[in-house]
Amino acid sequence: MKFDIITLFPEIITGYCSFSIPARAKKKGIISVDTINPRDFTRDRHKKADDTPYGGGAGMVLMCQPFYDAYDSIPKTENMASIILTPQGEVFNQAKAEQLAQKDQIVMMCGHYEGFDERIRQIPGLIEISIGDFVLTGGELAALCIIDAVTRLLPGALGKDESVLEESFSEGLLEYPHYTKPYDFRGMKVPDILLSGNHQEIAKWRKEQALARTKVKRPDLYEKYLKK
Ligand code: ADE
Repeated sequence: MKFDIITLFPEIITGYCSFSIPARAKKKGIISVDTINPRDFTRDRHKKADDTPYGGGAGMVLMCQPFYDAYDSIPKTENMASIILTPQGEVFNQAKAEQLAQKDQIVMMCGHYEGFDERIRQIPGLIEISIGDFVLTGGELAALCIIDAVTRLLPGALGKDESVLEESFSEGLLEYPHYTKPYDFRGMKVPDILLSGNHQEIAKWRKEQALARTKVKRPDLYEKYLKK
């Protein structure tokens, strides 16, 4: 999977991706993460990537030319997705992460502070994605959420033990509760079933727990699960 991230703040992307699972996936050659800075495509002395809005009003607007040129500079493959991160997009979720994990390349365009010139959204094939109904300072955090969620799904990105923990949510349910040593922490004890050694009963208990907590904490997911 090749990630190409168009951003005025490349260090935010490279910083996060040098830790934990994304870093390991990079080292193993499962992903590559390249950043493209629109500022490098500006044509004036001051490397200006934004300008005042037509019609007046507060704030600045990201300019078409540096963003179009940055986008055009990226070599594209057949099986790719192009994404612009904005709060106006369709909301990201696990199902979308699974779809994106089927691609060979994901290009993501991040804005910062202000809005994009409307014509940037009109780049052919670009889809708008939001990571939730709140406004971030920039699209970088949203792009990182997508890089992270997609990378975890790629074959070989997770260790054997980690992928076991994954199973539950991929079914559309919340995770069952996990415990490790000690058995008794400040009077809170590990459920006895987990010490029983009966793997069939443990699996049954975990499934019941996942169902029960999904029903209480996320009734919307629970309803969807029942209809599946
Ligand atoms: N940029 C600013 N806010 C955002 C959000 N909620 N999702 C994606 N990109 C954003």
